[in-house]
Amino acid sequence: MQPLGEHVHAERAALDAGAATVVDTSIAPPTAHLGALGTTGLTAYAALTRTAPVKEGDVVLVSAAAGAVGSIAGQLARRLGASRVIGSAGGPVKTRKLLDVFGYDAAVDHRRGDLPCQLAEAAPEGVDVYLDAVGGDHLEAAIGAIRPGGRIAMVGAISGYNATRPAPGPDNLFRAAAQEATLRGMLVSSHFDLFPEWIGKAAGWLADGSLRTEETVADGIERAADAFLGVLSGANTGKMLVRLGTDR
Ligand SMILES: NC(=O)c1ccc[n+]([C@@H]2O[C@H](COP(=O)([O-])OP(=O)(O)OC[C@H]3O[C@@H](n4cnc5c(N)ncnc54)[C@H](OP(=O)(O)O)[C@@H]3O)[C@@H](O)[C@H]2O)c1
Repeated sequence: MQPLGEHVHAERAALDAGAATVVDTSIAPPTAHLGALGTTGLTAYAALTRTAPVKEGDVVLVSAAAGAVGSIAGQLARRLGASRVIGSAGGPVKTRKLLDVFGYDAAVDHRRGDLPCQLAEAAPEGVDVYLDAVGGDHLEAAIGAIRPGGRIAMVGAISGYNATRPAPGPDNLFRAAAQEATLRGMLVSSHFDLFPEWIGKAAGWLADGSLRTEETVADGIERAADAFLGVLSGANTGKMLVRLGTDR
C-alpha cells in the first residue's frame, strides 16, 4: 500500500477503446479538445441553451468568468442574443481581461466584496440568466438581482469545494419564489448528445479567431496537485492544463 502523503504519478494509461474518444486535431490544436471543444465548452453551451436558456435581449451574469467555462460562457451568451453580459472574477487583472479579451460588458471583482452593490451598478435593471459556478455569496447576490422569470443554471459551487467549514447558503431563496425564477442543476455528462452540434460551431469560431480562449499550463505531472489546488484559489485564467513530461 502507498504510504499516506506520497503521490503516485502515471503519465500513461491503457483503456478500453470504448472509453476513449479520438479527437480531430485537424480542426483545432489538441489542447482545445480539453477546453473549448471538450466538456468545458460543452458545459457553457448546455448551461446557456438548455438549463438556463438565453433569450434575445437578456442580461446574463457569469461567475468564475475568467476561468475555463466562464471565459467561453460570456462570449456564447452574446452570440445567443444577450443584450448585456456581466462577469465576476477575482482581482483587477482578471476583471480587466473580462472586458478586453473575453467580451464582457461589465465586470465585478468579488475580491472587493459587497457583491450585491457591485452587481446593482453593473446590472441596474437586474439579471435574466445567471450561470453559477461559485454558489454561496454569488448565488445569493444573483438571486437578489434576478428579474421575473429569471433562470439560474447551477453548474458548480466552487466557493465550498475546499472550505474548512460549511459555506453559508443563500438566505434570500424566497425572492426566487417571488420572482418565479428557475434554479436548475446541470451535469455536463447528461448533455453529451450536444457535442457534435457544439464542436461544429465552436471549431469554426476558434478557427476564425472570434472565440477567444486562454490556457494556464503547469509543466510536469508532479505539478498536477498544485495545478488542481490552483484552480480552487484562482491561479488560472482560462483552462488549467498539466503538460506531461513526454510532451515537453
Ligand atoms: N456541472 C458540471 O457538469 C460541470 C462541468 C464543468 C465544470 N463545472 C463547475 O464549473 C465551475 C468552473 O469550472 P472550471 O473548470 O471552468 O474552473 P475555472 O473557472 O477555470 O476555475 C475556477 C475559478 O473559480 C474561481 N473561484 C475559486 N474560488 C472562488 C470563490 N470562493 N469565489 C469566487 N470565485 C472563486 C477562481 O477564479 P477567480 O480568480 O476569478 O476567483 C478560479 O480560477 C466549477 O465550479 C466546476 O466544478 C461543472
